[in-house]
Amino acid sequence: MNSFVITLFATVTLSGVLAGNDLKKCCKPEEYYENVNGSYYCVHDETRRLQILTNETDFVGKQNEGECVEVSDGFFLFNISDREVIKVSPARGKVYPKCCPLNFIYNSIIHACQEKEDTNHSFIKENFIKVGVPNCRVVVDYKLNGTTDYEYGLLESKSRYLRRNSLQYFGSYCIDETEEASLVIRECKESIEICEEVKCIKKCCPDGQSFIDGSNCKDTYRHGLNLSAWANAVNKPTGNFFL
Ligand SMILES: *[C@@H]1O[C@H](CO)[C@@H](O)[C@H](O)[C@H]1NC(C)=O
Ligand SMILES: *[C@@H]1O[C@H](CO)[C@@H](O)[C@H](O)[C@H]1NC(C)=O
Ligand SMILES: *[C@@H]1O[C@H](CO)[C@@H](O)[C@H](O)[C@H]1NC(C)=O
Ligand SMILES: *[C@@H]1O[C@H](CO)[C@@H](O)[C@H](O)[C@H]1NC(C)=O
Ligand SMILES: *[C@@H]1O[C@H](CO)[C@@H](O)[C@H](O)[C@H]1NC(C)=O
Ligand SMILES: *[C@@H]1O[C@H](CO)[C@@H](O)[C@H](O)[C@H]1NC(C)=O
Repeated sequence: MNSFVITLFATVTLSGVLAGNDLKKCCKPEEYYENVNGSYYCVHDETRRLQILTNETDFVGKQNEGECVEVSDGFFLFNISDREVIKVSPARGKVYPKCCPLNFIYNSIIHACQEKEDTNHSFIKENFIKVGVPNCRVVVDYKLNGTTDYEYGLLESKSRYLRRNSLQYFGSYCIDETEEASLVIRECKESIEICEEVKCIKKCCPDGQSFIDGSNCKDTYRHGLNLSAWANAVNKPTGNFFL
């Protein structure tokens, strides 16, 4: 299941599409463009690994003509003309690595995503969202002491780290709001050495996935593990973890 690929896109200007809260998303908030024999249809996105954050959604449903942006195996610019949908080019913009889908927060106790109504996404300035760290070998959670666009500081640390906010590094970390309204960074580690310091748990599916109908890993985001429940059996149950 390590087939999640993000290609490095060539530069494209979003002429007339605007960025920020005004970026025009072609489909409704939780939909993406499915390509069926060269025709594009807005369909519900079950996996939500790529999302677009903007106030301006459903450009096509509102009978608009012109350019809009949508997820379709990447972020793309589309031209809607005479009810015809034409893929123009990849859409380039900064991508925010969010741990959970939009309208979800990360519950740091059960290590899973939780749906939350009226989520405030104001900590995200980017329009393009990449969800989770599904290719990680080991994921370690750290609480963040605030964050700015390009750097972050860990709690109880004087250093600030550069956020490698570039497509090449995607999959190496993600950030999200927690149940305490603080921020968490979930970072990938190359080796299991970290497991000498913190408790590691072997997880069967990649991050964000769990077994559905037998041993099929599916993007569910919601199912986690409350280690406090096993406090007697597990050392450092509140430690950061994951494998
Ligand atoms: C987008 O929506 C948010 C939340 O409803 C609102 O605070 C903000 O002003 C909106 N921005 C624009 C440009 O409409
Ligand atoms: C796509 O086009 C091919 C060839 O024209 C056809 O056999 C196939 O059924 C089409 N698929 C869908 C989903 O419409
Ligand atoms: C969209 O496509 C139509 C038809 O090909 C073209 O006339 C129009 O200029 C295009 N619009 C944009 C904004 O590129
Ligand atoms: C969202 O959070 C920011 C910063 O915490 C705050 O300034 C803003 O008023 C909040 N917006 C809403 C709609 O709650
Ligand atoms: C959070 O960061 C601020 C500014 O960098 C620092 O003064 C403060 O001590 C930090 N708090 C904790 C709990 O690490
Ligand atoms: C986690 O487990 C502990 C101990 O069983 C329980 O007290 C706590 O409420 C649980 N927390 C969550 C978020 O499920």
